[in-house]
Amino acid sequence: MPRVKQICCIGAGYVGGPTCAVIALKCPHIRVTIVDLNQARIDAWNSPDFNLPIYEPGLDDVVRKARGRNLFFSTDVDKGIQDADLIFVSVNTPTKKSGVGAGFAADLNYVELATRRIAATATSSKIVVEKSTVPCRTAESMRTILDANSKPNARFDILSNPEFLAEGTAIDDLFAPDRVLIGSLQTPEGKEACEALCEVYRNWVPKERILTVGLWSSELSKLAANAMLAQRISSINALSAICEATGANIAEVAHSIGQDSRIGPKFLRASVGFGGSCFQKDILNLVYLSESLNLKEVAEYWKQVVTMNEYQKRRFSKRVVDTLFNTITGKRIAVLGFAFKADTGDTRESAAITLIRDFQEEKALVNIYDPQVKQDQIWADLNEASPDVSLATIKRQVFVCSSALEACKNAEAVVIATEWAEFKTIDWQAVYAGMNKPAFVFDGRLLVDADKLRSIGFKVGLGSGVCPDNGYDTNAYSVQVTVIGRGERL
Ligand code: UDX
Ligand code: UDX
Repeated sequence: MPRVKQICCIGAGYVGGPTCAVIALKCPHIRVTIVDLNQARIDAWNSPDFNLPIYEPGLDDVVRKARGRNLFFSTDVDKGIQDADLIFVSVNTPTKKSGVGAGFAADLNYVELATRRIAATATSSKIVVEKSTVPCRTAESMRTILDANSKPNARFDILSNPEFLAEGTAIDDLFAPDRVLIGSLQTPEGKEACEALCEVYRNWVPKERILTVGLWSSELSKLAANAMLAQRISSINALSAICEATGANIAEVAHSIGQDSRIGPKFLRASVGFGGSCFQKDILNLVYLSESLNLKEVAEYWKQVVTMNEYQKRRFSKRVVDTLFNTITGKRIAVLGFAFKADTGDTRESAAITLIRDFQEEKALVNIYDPQVKQDQIWADLNEASPDVSLATIKRQVFVCSSALEACKNAEAVVIATEWAEFKTIDWQAVYAGMNKPAFVFDGRLLVDADKLRSIGFKVGLGSGVCPDNGYDTNAYSVQVTVIGRGERL
């Protein structure tokens, strides 16, 4: 007899939504209810035409198969809690904006609210699972809240089950995870709860991929995994700066080092900088944790990964300005891509936001095109990035376009900020015809075929570390640069 018959997930976001939709699909005998305070979000999950609130390849298909069968979306949080044997807490945990630890620590307000709600509502025992990424020892705080507020006969076991899915490939990641990590207290009750959750995953995940560890190891492993991944990107981006200064080619360097089986080829793509809701936030969490533990050197070490990322974004936008003859005032720049990576509409911490803010400050005109990001989201992000500038002013400088071709019209330069596959196949000949000359392309994702663009007539600057010989039209460049007297080699 399966121990878990009903699951409730609090938080219908990028993590809770896809994760629990896949659990419902793979476990038809379990009733899964995903609850959220946000009515509009729940309405979108329930929309008759499957106009879901997040874009994720394959998600639509999963929801179509399971919704109404054993997958439900609701704003009735209390009923969801009452009915469930197991509750995932999958609310957002942004970096704190004020108070102690501002700028570093995670804001656990939503986790606390959800925990208090469980304690106040539950009339029977529950397994409570942290799905949100949380600082180490959050489970302990949850336990304190639950124990202090629970009803008689309601026992709570707390598990940590961090999610490792990446946006854009969430469904594939959930169908075939590298590993599922479950942390529990090493008490008989803790192990029992852990086994109940293992049983759920065993419906489709091979048992050797389900790792069971202590609660604190599990919490720390999530932060550590994201920090290590981000560290690889900052390392390759740091090397890209050396490439630009020396004439080495970062794509060749990345390929060469990735062939070493101890290093491996993944996560070595030089870029305009990493984004997303997790990397920066989780590293800052790790920094905060290290500082709280008086481990100053450890904190400094991890902080450098974020510092390098900021440097890369700044270096890229400066490169654009320098190349366009040291000024972009009044010039039109087409930014292709606004999402933090391809195959998602998510814009959290997207490098594009920083670049566009820099271009705005230089008084450029900016045309943006992204195949998935909604206009309102773009305005909200740009407004937040420049709090001292009114949205009306931003809208006089920045324009959202409905195609790449439209965005590039009359532009001096194209900046590729997100690696959408469609940017490889746009009609670059037509783009070139519509642009002012000389027409520049800055490829922040090393996405397009630079030789092909060069043969059309573009000046191709691969902004993230390709040497002059391979990237820019060196001769034209050195002349221009010398003329303006910056003395910098590009
Ligand atoms: C997730 C993880 O949970 C977070 O820890 C990780 O670092 C990033 O990914 P995510 O699913 O991306 O968060 O967040 P989001 O898409 O914002 O979804 C959270 C949802 O929880 C929102 O829909 C929000 O309305 C809901 N919520 C929040 C509640 O239902 N109740 C609350 O009290 C707070
Ligand atoms: C990440 C982790 O991969 C995932 O395991 C965790 O659960 C959540 O955080 P996500 O942020 O969704 O996932 O996407 P990811 O593919 O990791 O990309 C993060 C950022 O790094 C993106 O901006 C991406 O473009 C960038 N990136 C990635 C690079 O710049 N170079 C690379 O080689 C890989």
